[in-house]
Amino acid sequence: MAEEDLKSKIIKKGNLPRHIAIIMDGNGRWARKRGLPRIAGHRAGVKTVKRIVEAASGLKISILTLFTFSTENWQRPREEVSAIMNLLYQTTKRELSELEKNNVKLITTGNIEELSSTRKEILKKAIQRTKDNTGLVLNLALNYSGRSEILDAIRKISVDICSGVIKPEDLDEGLFSSYLYTKGLPDPDLLIRTSGEMRISNFMLWQTSYTELYVTPVLWPDFTDDDFYQAIWAYQNRQRRFGKI
Ligand code: IPE
Ligand code: IPE
Ligand code: MG
Repeated sequence: MAEEDLKSKIIKKGNLPRHIAIIMDGNGRWARKRGLPRIAGHRAGVKTVKRIVEAASGLKISILTLFTFSTENWQRPREEVSAIMNLLYQTTKRELSELEKNNVKLITTGNIEELSSTRKEILKKAIQRTKDNTGLVLNLALNYSGRSEILDAIRKISVDICSGVIKPEDLDEGLFSSYLYTKGLPDPDLLIRTSGEMRISNFMLWQTSYTELYVTPVLWPDFTDDDFYQAIWAYQNRQRRFGKI
C-alpha cells in the first residue's frame, strides 16, 4: 500500500497509540553489513530519528519515547560510547531550533546527572527551551535502566515512609508510579523494537506491563515512515484485553 494511503487509513481509523516507545536497535549490524565502522551505523540512525520524530508529529502522537542509551551500554568500547555521546550532543545542539519550530517538547528519562557537565548543559538547555511546547513530547531514555529506576523508586519511597510523608498502606500502583522517572507520563501503548531481537533489554519494566509489542526485522537506520505506519496499523488492529474477555 502506498505510504500516503496507509497514513490516511491510520488517521481515519482513529485509535492511535497515545504513547509510542521504540527500542532503536541494529545500528551496528547495519554498519557491519556495509563494511563500515559501528559509528557509521549510529550516524545513520540519527537520520532515522529525525524522520520518525517528524512522522510522529505528523500523526499528532502525544509521546514518543526513544531508547537512546542504556546504563548497560557503558560497557561497550570507550570509543563507541564517546562517539554515541558526541552524536547525541551535536544532534541536540543542531536540531534545537527545529524542535522549537515544530513545537516539540524534549524531556529525558534516566540518569542524566551522570553525564559529563557539557553534555548535561546542552540537554538541560534544550529541555528548558522547549518546555512550553504543546506538540509531540519527545522523551529520550538516556542512561536508562528499568531495574535501576525501580530500585531508585524504592529508595525514595523508603525515605518517605521513614520520615512519615507516606504510610506503607498508602502505596498503590498510582503512588508507586509517581516515584518513577516517568512520573506523569502515561504507560507506552505500543513498543516497537527494530532489528528482530525478541527481548526487552531492561526497558521500562514497570510501564510496559500491558504495552502492545511490535518487533520488526528492519534495522534502525533502514526503518522508514512506512515501517512506522505499519507498526501503528498493526496496533490499531489488535484487541487489547487487559486480562478481561
Ligand atoms: C542500537 O544499535 C543503538 C544503541 C544501543 C546505542 P546497536 O549499536 O545496539 O546495534 P547492534 O545491535 O549492534 O546491531
Ligand atoms: C537496547 O539495545 C538499548 C538501546 C536501544 C539504547 P541493545 O543493543 O543495548 O540491547 P541488547 O544488548 O541487544 O539486549
Ligand atoms: Mg543492539
